[in-house]
Amino acid sequence: MAACSPYIETHRDRFLNELIDLLRIPSISADPAYAGDVVRCAEAVAQQLTAAGAENVEIIPTEGFPVVYGEKMVSEHAPTVLVYGHYDVQPAVPLELWDSPAFEPVIKKTDLHPEGAIFARGACDDKGQVFMHVKALEAMVQSDALHCNIKFMIEGEEEVGSAHLEPFLEAHRDKLAADIVLVSDTGIIANDVPSITVGLRGLSYVEVEVTGPNRDLHSGLYGGAAPNPINILCEMIASLKNEDQRILVEGFYEDVVELSAAERKAMAEAPFDEAEYKRSIDIGAVEGEEGYSAPERMSIRPTLDVNGIWGGYTGDGAKTVIASKASAKISMRLVPNQDPEKITELFTRHFNAIAPPSVKVKITPMHGGQPAVTPTDSIAYQAASAAMEATFGRKPVPFRGGGSIPIVASFEQILGLKTVLMGFGLDSDAIHSPNEHYGVFNYFKGIETIPLFHEHFARLSAKS
Ligand code: BES
Ligand code: MN
Ligand code: MN
Repeated sequence: MAACSPYIETHRDRFLNELIDLLRIPSISADPAYAGDVVRCAEAVAQQLTAAGAENVEIIPTEGFPVVYGEKMVSEHAPTVLVYGHYDVQPAVPLELWDSPAFEPVIKKTDLHPEGAIFARGACDDKGQVFMHVKALEAMVQSDALHCNIKFMIEGEEEVGSAHLEPFLEAHRDKLAADIVLVSDTGIIANDVPSITVGLRGLSYVEVEVTGPNRDLHSGLYGGAAPNPINILCEMIASLKNEDQRILVEGFYEDVVELSAAERKAMAEAPFDEAEYKRSIDIGAVEGEEGYSAPERMSIRPTLDVNGIWGGYTGDGAKTVIASKASAKISMRLVPNQDPEKITELFTRHFNAIAPPSVKVKITPMHGGQPAVTPTDSIAYQAASAAMEATFGRKPVPFRGGGSIPIVASFEQILGLKTVLMGFGLDSDAIHSPNEHYGVFNYFKGIETIPLFHEHFARLSAKS
């Protein structure tokens, strides 16, 4: 039995209740109305880190929300692991779609979580996963089973693009010195199919506004000759892809790294059940780029998606009007070696070029992030693989994920550090959606696995 297991078993209920308390804090970074709660959450994380046995715990201010730092140094001969995660959460709206209030956590059983899952905003993304590391630290300290120096860096702006984190890394290079970054903010394929994420997509996010006439007009008096910005925006958006779902933004695919046949074959070995996928989100067919499988479309291929679109009259009943303006928010998920700034630039040029002379177009870049791939031949990957194999009873498969954690590329660029993405969520945990949840099984699997990661990483580092 692993050294920490008895302690974890004995303190199981408390470990669950402390997470539930953290989940009660609505730390929504996007909404200024919750700024006080975000700061209160940073304080709660700092307090929990101290209680778990971390030293030199600090709430470090940034231009935005603070970063919580803490460390447990055991020996200058031991390797150092920098644990990164985020305590901020996505907005919970639309609230009426939640079966129970987003910040009043409850444990309920589901088909995929027969042992129960904690329902709350942030349960999986990322408070539940951050808290596994806090509780794993406590278990290691109390079981006298610390093998690595551990540093924690838990931020409060991940869900709004981590705008102040690169300057933070630059300002605290010495404090953050480490051998590897360990992140639990991703998922596994299924509870009986453990996996390690080895790639994240980048992101370029823009808002577009199309202006037609200088004011809203009567659609009978003016309709037919006045340009309708909503119609035009829809046509412009529709023209961004062809019938094979290839993105037509000039130069968009220029830097995309194509995977070799061998790499694609290896990827295809990760199980994917298309019928189950369609059933789980209730769709009639999968969509996407010709020539690629659904898992490839969601990981190694870039995308362009409208995230929101608005304009004109959307209230009750009918109002006959030609709006002056129409807007949309558009995200592009990027893959190696696409650069978010270049893509934003290419998009801007293309979108301006396709606008008819009857309208004006304004494009506002929002946040972006670099894609990242993490190595599978490193001792850190081997340590994560051995740890998961021990707790799941099955060797994890490497897997490229579709989501983005922009700071991962910055860890490499600024601190020269590689990252291991050892997450424990499921795609079906509804992160960013109503009824977000995190399996009790997954939470404790993480708490059991993390100490084994440190143990294997220390052992493998000593050998190399
Ligand atoms: N934890 C997610 C990213 C994620 C989830 C990656 C599951 C892989 C598997 C993270 O909190 C997130 O939501 N990132 C944002 C990007 C950010 C710039 C808002 C995303 O991917 O949309
Ligand atoms: Mn996250
Ligand atoms: Mn998120």
